[in-house]
Amino acid sequence: MGSDSTIYRVVGKPGEPHFQLQSKSIPELTLRVPTDIDIATVIDILENKANSEFDKSISDATAEELQLIAQRWTIVNKPLTHVNFLLRHKEQPLGIAGLGWIGPANSNDASHQAERAGAAGVMLQPLWRGKGYAYEALRVVFEYGIRELGLVEIHVGSHSGNLPMKSLMEKKFGLQPEVKAEELVDQFGNDLLWIVKREEWLSTND
Ligand SMILES: CC(C)(COP(=O)(O)OP(=O)(O)OC[C@H]1O[C@@H](n2cnc3c(N)ncnc32)[C@H](O)[C@@H]1OP(=O)(O)O)[C@@H](O)C(=O)NCCC(=O)NCCS
Repeated sequence: MGSDSTIYRVVGKPGEPHFQLQSKSIPELTLRVPTDIDIATVIDILENKANSEFDKSISDATAEELQLIAQRWTIVNKPLTHVNFLLRHKEQPLGIAGLGWIGPANSNDASHQAERAGAAGVMLQPLWRGKGYAYEALRVVFEYGIRELGLVEIHVGSHSGNLPMKSLMEKKFGLQPEVKAEELVDQFGNDLLWIVKREEWLSTND
């Protein structure tokens, strides 16, 4: 644990204020757990309606709820239940990316009960889209979740109307989604689910 990967370099340790992951292919791009001084920046990103068109968990939230969400992201708990990063290019905040949920993998097999899974997401301010930053941020998040946190799978949910996200997952990551039946659509309205599986990720990113 704490080791570098081919995709990112680790600076510090989770819980330390200077902890961050630095992309190796875009070294100016860093992902850090927000601290108190980043809360206003995180709220700015969350409350921009252009960022939450397809994300009911955020678009329906009140200002107080967004404040609580941003504060929760500054907390690194053990075992981790979430790890959300502020994405920056040099000093410039671009958006957020991370694992909004980490918990037990849904395994019926008793020998796999300790396995954990995660749910990932990414959100860029409109100005910073179309430059490959979302792809790189998610690559870092997937690699960190799988290689560092040992997650067996990472789920990415989205709405089928979210064409930029579909393009990112399908063209860039080469993943096909499960399309959920109407009754299985989650509370956020996501009807597409991509699953990044540990073995496949490790075999293609060694
Ligand atoms: C979904 C979202 C993150 C996608 O962002 P994005 O910037 O389009 O995604 P990418 O990083 O993959 O960039 C893609 C584009 O950047 C360009 N690009 C990719 N790599 C590049 C590079 N190295 N240099 C320059 N440009 C590059 C490409 O032109 C590509 O566009 P294309 O699909 O037409 O080929 C963004 O639309 C967003 O924040 N939406 C709101 C939040 C949201 O819905 N999140 C998803 C729910 S989890």
